[in-house]
Amino acid sequence: MTIRTATAADAAVLAELARRTFYDTFASTNDANDMALHLQSAYGVDQQTREITNREMTTLIVEEGGSAIAYAQLRSDHVPDCVSGPDPVELWRFYVDSSWHGRGVAQSLMERVKAMARQRGARSLWLGVWERNDRARAFYAKCGFVDVGEHIFLFGTDPQTDRVMVASL
Ligand SMILES: CC(C)(COP(=O)(O)OP(=O)(O)OC[C@H]1O[C@@H](n2cnc3c(N)ncnc32)[C@H](O)[C@@H]1OP(=O)(O)O)[C@@H](O)C(=O)NCCC(=O)NCCS
Repeated sequence: MTIRTATAADAAVLAELARRTFYDTFASTNDANDMALHLQSAYGVDQQTREITNREMTTLIVEEGGSAIAYAQLRSDHVPDCVSGPDPVELWRFYVDSSWHGRGVAQSLMERVKAMARQRGARSLWLGVWERNDRARAFYAKCGFVDVGEHIFLFGTDPQTDRVMVASL
């Protein structure tokens, strides 16, 4: 398994992986129209190219046997009021292909994410996770994140409550 920083050449692979993992995670618990709206606005080669080449973001890709199996994105953008730790950076997206859940890929990727965040000068790592995403919340708690509040994530037309979690770096 290798973990590396994505380049613009990875945009098509990332778009497919990101779209598929988002759908797999949330389709069964959400409205199909909201899902379609979100997929259309969030994923596509142009969109992922912009993200990969944005200097305020870092995209990591995990590969195994020549296939992309997980990715994570860090972003320096807004910071919610409930995040009070020093020098925060956002873990914006963190997705592992379902066939690799529970097999240590997520732990390895999280270690690399934290190292990358430190390299960017961050001392706190924050994220928003859907209040109903129990597995992700349990995973983040295992990785040292604590719940500090909430914010709203607009999923299609549906305003959903995300728990905001923070880890010290
Ligand atoms: C979230 C994610 C990265 C975690 O990786 P993982 O390999 O599944 O994580 P782990 O198996 O090491 O840890 C998950 C923990 O949740 C627990 N868990 C599993 N299913 C659960 C459930 N339905 N409810 C609550 N906890 C659950 C597991 O038991 C495990 O804890 P344990 O190791 O103490 O037993 C991965 O599941 C994933 O990519 N999910 C889909 C995308 C996603 O939700 N991303 C986060 C968006 S914010």
